[in-house]
Amino acid sequence: MCGIVGAVVTRNVQGILLEGLKRLEYRGYDSAGMAILSDDNRLDRVRALGKVGALESRLEQTPLTGNIGIAHTRWATHGKPSEDNAHPHQSGDNVAVVHNGIIENHERLRSELQQQGYTFTSETDTEVVAHLIAREFDRGGDLLSAVRDALLVFDGAYAMGVVHRDEPGVIIGARKGSPLVVGVGIEEAFLASDPLALLQVTDRFIYLQEEDVVRLSKGGRIEIFDRNGDAVERPIQTFEHSDGAASKGDYRHFMLKEIHEQPQVMTAAMEGRLSERGVLIESFGTDAEALFAKAEQIHIVACGTSYHAGMVARYWLERVAGIPTQVEVASEYRYRRVVVPENTLFVTLSQSGETADTLAALRFSRDLGYMGSLAICNVPGSSLVRESDLTLMMHAGPEIGVASTKAFTSQLVALMLLTLSLAKVRGEEPERQAEIASALRALPEVARRVLDLDKDIEALSTAFAEKHHALFLGRGAHFPIALEGALKLKEISYIHAEAYPAGELKHGPLALVDSEMPVISVAPNDELLDKLKSNLQEVRARGGELFVFADENVGIESTEGVRVLRLPHVDEALAPIIYTLPLQLLSYHVAVLKGTDVDQPRNLAKSVTVE
Ligand code: G6P
Repeated sequence: MCGIVGAVVTRNVQGILLEGLKRLEYRGYDSAGMAILSDDNRLDRVRALGKVGALESRLEQTPLTGNIGIAHTRWATHGKPSEDNAHPHQSGDNVAVVHNGIIENHERLRSELQQQGYTFTSETDTEVVAHLIAREFDRGGDLLSAVRDALLVFDGAYAMGVVHRDEPGVIIGARKGSPLVVGVGIEEAFLASDPLALLQVTDRFIYLQEEDVVRLSKGGRIEIFDRNGDAVERPIQTFEHSDGAASKGDYRHFMLKEIHEQPQVMTAAMEGRLSERGVLIESFGTDAEALFAKAEQIHIVACGTSYHAGMVARYWLERVAGIPTQVEVASEYRYRRVVVPENTLFVTLSQSGETADTLAALRFSRDLGYMGSLAICNVPGSSLVRESDLTLMMHAGPEIGVASTKAFTSQLVALMLLTLSLAKVRGEEPERQAEIASALRALPEVARRVLDLDKDIEALSTAFAEKHHALFLGRGAHFPIALEGALKLKEISYIHAEAYPAGELKHGPLALVDSEMPVISVAPNDELLDKLKSNLQEVRARGGELFVFADENVGIESTEGVRVLRLPHVDEALAPIIYTLPLQLLSYHVAVLKGTDVDQPRNLAKSVTVE
């Protein structure tokens, strides 16, 4: 994905920007570039298609000098990967801009600017930003006010860095919906979309808030203005290197760390992809809207935990977007005759992007007449990402624990964005889409409240340590959550666990229920609640011990043999994401009690690259 680096320093800035870009390479990108304000008041720019290494070779031939500059790695959304479309974008020789995110109303702005005589040299939405800032600057005032005036006109999401030849000591940064941090140096100041880009120069950061605008000027001066234009102080935070993905930090296991990272991971999965006007469909790629508008069916293929995410998505896609959806495990799909109706979109889900069966399924799908393929994946540059027509990165950060946790919930957030995108192009109920979008924004906070119940869940886990079997029940979109809960328990605690849609209980598994069979159920406040309550009675009547994770409003009480843990209320559509968290924690604590190798359970691999 796109990355931004900027710096106002006392030394030559080129090396700092280049190193910053290299540190952003893990995000995946297709071109890179930088613009530097030279000491003799020129705006010099070098861009290259391909890797940062290609840009570096160009810079060896034509080195840039100066103390102020901005740089970018681009992941194409508007316009193909090419040098012309690479950032920074300029307006004449005066303004240069780097930008992450999507300007939704760029087409209208482009024609307006063209009528006013501005010439465009790229297919990007970002070039509109450069011209608009140039226009506002020429109307009088300084660069800060020109940027602020221009921002008033944009719809969409952005993080940006801007320099102007006529205000040579300054970089302006702005964010809305996409992350941007300021690095604090000694008489130097920096800007980046990710603090990792700047760790070579500072470990002190200011995390800009929504709609903040910042002016970095010579001498390391940092001035931040909030959405009302008022000067504000934001706290400086020291980056904890021990928080790095490859370290467990204060956690006993990677799995526990990754479970607790989920609120941030949910934010990262939706950042820059949701504006006040709803989901930004271009997040899936330039061609996404046209493709989604034509789609009449969805086929989802995945393995393991990713398959469970796909099963949840089927309920969402049919309920919210009204689009027929099928979900299948990749190892089955790839070996059967698949009949593909016209205008079917093929979707793969994979944390690693390297799972052999999922990759084989994608390759197998190519000759079956699908309209196109979309991969939802966590690893930029992975095989699945490279070979799919459209991609949506999950931004969950590296997941080290073999049992997938944060990747699952970030996949679900990504799948809800897909659901909202399809609902939007299909003209499904806009009010419901707006409700879900707003519930999505609030989701990380609800997740935090659930994770605060960790100690209560740990207390429940003692009831499982001596058991050999467990049964998980759920209904509707929570049946796949029951499956995922059972998978987690068996993966890391080696307890045999099965999951059933609660209505199926009477058709067989009820025969297994006795006092030695704990039964775990998720009971969100949805239309199936009353039916679920009856199913739970069936268990209780046979002496089964019940553990119920229930919405705080559903009125299920703890009684003898029934232990209820109340969860905060959440919009019904997003409940599957929230109800996953206690099941992850329960499995974790049971495994710890049993003394298994939680992060590397026996016989399993993180990424299964063989059939
Ligand atoms: C392995 C992992 C699981 C994962 C599955 C699919 O089995 O142990 O945690 O869910 O692969 O992996 P993917 O990378 O394609 O999501």
